Amino acid sequence: MSFYFTNINSIVVLTGAGISAESGLSTFRLKDGLWDNHPVDEVATPEGFQRNPALVHEFYNARRQQLSSVEPNAAHLALSAFEKSFSGNILLVTQNVDDLHDRAGSHNLVHMHGELLKCRCTACGTIKEIRSDLSTDSLCEDCGRKGTLRPDIVWFGEMPMELDRIYDALAQCDLFVSIGTSGNVYPAAGFFQEAKMAGAHTVELNLDPGEHASGFDQCLYGPATQLVPEFFGAS
Ligand code: APR
Repeated sequence: MSFYFTNINSIVVLTGAGISAESGLSTFRLKDGLWDNHPVDEVATPEGFQRNPALVHEFYNARRQQLSSVEPNAAHLALSAFEKSFSGNILLVTQNVDDLHDRAGSHNLVHMHGELLKCRCTACGTIKEIRSDLSTDSLCEDCGRKGTLRPDIVWFGEMPMELDRIYDALAQCDLFVSIGTSGNVYPAAGFFQEAKMAGAHTVELNLDPGEHASGFDQCLYGPATQLVPEFFGAS
């Protein structure tokens, strides 16, 4: 059943891996989850990249290639359609590094954990879009150095992106909706509390109860492709 959006002026939506699961991208903490064959330390920390950059490139190259075989699903599309029709402010904050929200047409979007389709030069800081594989020989076209490019992904121990913009939106929101995230990774896992302090109604839409389910005002469980279009009035 659709949420009653009358008197709602400012919304923050947080998404996690669960919203892309039905597009065919695996989540992190399931049995067949992404980290299973690779300890997190190896592929998702700056230290892991220093130790074995070739392995890290291989891991993210495979994930980047996978994007060409998946499509946004009904949940991504419902959020984008809602953004277009909503007259107030809405900020979509995703922990996902895929481009499915972008392809669905969402605009007020923050990729707080970075993007698979971007790389960063560790020498000159330039951030560029990439479609092709990265390697330890990749050349930075801006500074001319070799082997300095890394995926523009926020690894464990690094600062998430655009936190000021996110906390500003949380401080003003009157509705906070968390979709498809287990609530295991901070700071995103604490956003619902910031929203609560601002007086917002907080909602969890997830397949299973997340870590902080009891802290939300309202929880609905089921697949994102069903719940999200229903909640945002697109079905
Ligand atoms: N519909 C809705 N929710 C789903 C679906 C689905 N079809 N399938 C799975 N889920 C839910 C699971 O119940 C789980 O709560 O999605 C959540 C996925 O949780 P995680 O795998 O922990 O992913 P996420 O919360 O996005 O991880 C956060 O951790 O590993 C780091 O940086 C990585 O951004 C990631 C962060």
